[in-house]
Amino acid sequence: KSMDEQMLIIFGASGDLTKRKLIPALYDLYKGDFLPENFVVLGTSRSDLTDDDFRNRVVFNSEFLKDEAENSDATKAEFAKKLFYKDLGDGYDTDFTPLKERIHELNSKFKINHNFVFYFSLPPSIYETVAKNLAAVDLSVEGVGWKRLIVEKPFGYSLETAKELNIGLQKYFRESQIYRIDHYLGKETVQNLLVTRFSNTVFEPLWNRNYIRHVEITNAESVGVGNRGGYYDKSGALRDMFQNHLMQIVSIVAMEPPISDDPEEIRNEKVKALKSLRIMDDEETLFNHTIRGQYTSAIINGETVKGYREEEGVDPASTTETFAAIKFYIDNWRWKDVPFYVRTAKRMPTKVTEIVIHFKPSHHHIFKDQDFDTDNKLIIRIQPDEGILMKFGVKVPGQGFNVERANMDFYYSDLEEGNNIMEAYERLLLDAMQGDATLYARADEVEAAWAFVDPILKYWNESKSAIVHGYSAGVWGPLHADDLIEGRGFWRNPCK
Ligand code: BG6
Repeated sequence: KSMDEQMLIIFGASGDLTKRKLIPALYDLYKGDFLPENFVVLGTSRSDLTDDDFRNRVVFNSEFLKDEAENSDATKAEFAKKLFYKDLGDGYDTDFTPLKERIHELNSKFKINHNFVFYFSLPPSIYETVAKNLAAVDLSVEGVGWKRLIVEKPFGYSLETAKELNIGLQKYFRESQIYRIDHYLGKETVQNLLVTRFSNTVFEPLWNRNYIRHVEITNAESVGVGNRGGYYDKSGALRDMFQNHLMQIVSIVAMEPPISDDPEEIRNEKVKALKSLRIMDDEETLFNHTIRGQYTSAIINGETVKGYREEEGVDPASTTETFAAIKFYIDNWRWKDVPFYVRTAKRMPTKVTEIVIHFKPSHHHIFKDQDFDTDNKLIIRIQPDEGILMKFGVKVPGQGFNVERANMDFYYSDLEEGNNIMEAYERLLLDAMQGDATLYARADEVEAAWAFVDPILKYWNESKSAIVHGYSAGVWGPLHADDLIEGRGFWRNPCK
């Protein structure tokens, strides 16, 4: 796709995300020749930096732009010429006229034609203020050039705050100008879910309650909260991963076929799936269908790993969950009575995200040794070892008809392009710069996901029956989580 000349204005440019994700993504896009000739980045924040300070910080001093041969100093220096900086003085609630002047100066100099992408790498509490201040100096106005706004997660803290954020931003920008980032949608394998489902004849006819017994989604990380304890303790696994990334995956697994690949058509179907989630708001269901846990200290490979409550920035009496497993249903024609089991956690034995579609057993077992383990499973590996695995029964060679499991296994790395998968931020930035919002969350999607998550959070926070189960760092979560999936085999615990 072609790309208009444009300027990317990053708010919060002295922060970690700019250095860790945005600049490396832009740098790779630059090296891959994806950026238009007339393109500049203007960083802004409260820090008092010059253009050169900013360039030093994010390009020359950055451990994220690795010093491989291809990243020669000359390439970096060329790229750095596209970066500029303007400080905001006292803060974000200020008159943006000086910022606007700098934007206009660069706009004329680099012939940008007033096409601006604003990137909010900021705390959501100031989104509305910054949007208001942009609008106050007419920087949100389209007509002469287009204006787009990318906002980072977390998008809200609850349904109510997400709605407030939407209303706040929509006062100054139209919904079609707003791009809400969910970096899981930038992952190649998540996008491929659409292609697997809707470009093959063999899966879609089976993709429903008649053939699927249950759906299992695991998102595991081996790391703990690291130095993000302060943020994480106010968030927890449900807000940090489940409401956004996992709900996005669920919506793509569950959605109806869109009529085309138009962004609104795809997002309309996703939001319909999310709106069909059966809301759990009675204590008994919440007790039976939700499990939360928190990792405790353990010795892993001879080293002592801290428990969550000992982590820096975490309240020593914290009840914040680092493990969440939820069983739920989707009330529509396709998924009636098919349970979904979704879990996410830190300090698991390995890092893995995968979707397992468990097909029903064959209607009539004629081979006596066939059990759960030989039922068909489609395993979609989101990360790492990106790929798709189909498990099916085969006859054990020899006498009789004994059934065992065989694998058909596809690895992305076997594709010619498969070892060059674009980083999520690269893909997402590129899309927003081209005006394609398919892989961004729309206001109604975010709100539908919150509507499902809110009562769980409320139950966990308020009810005496909502226990926080401990689990030793390095295991697959609290044993209680097995009760959730009982009767349907076990969680699939893939180990490297
Ligand atoms: C982020 C969460 O959104 O996603 C982090 O805030 C988490 O807590 C991260 O570690 C996981 O992303 P990925 O791409 O490594 O699975």
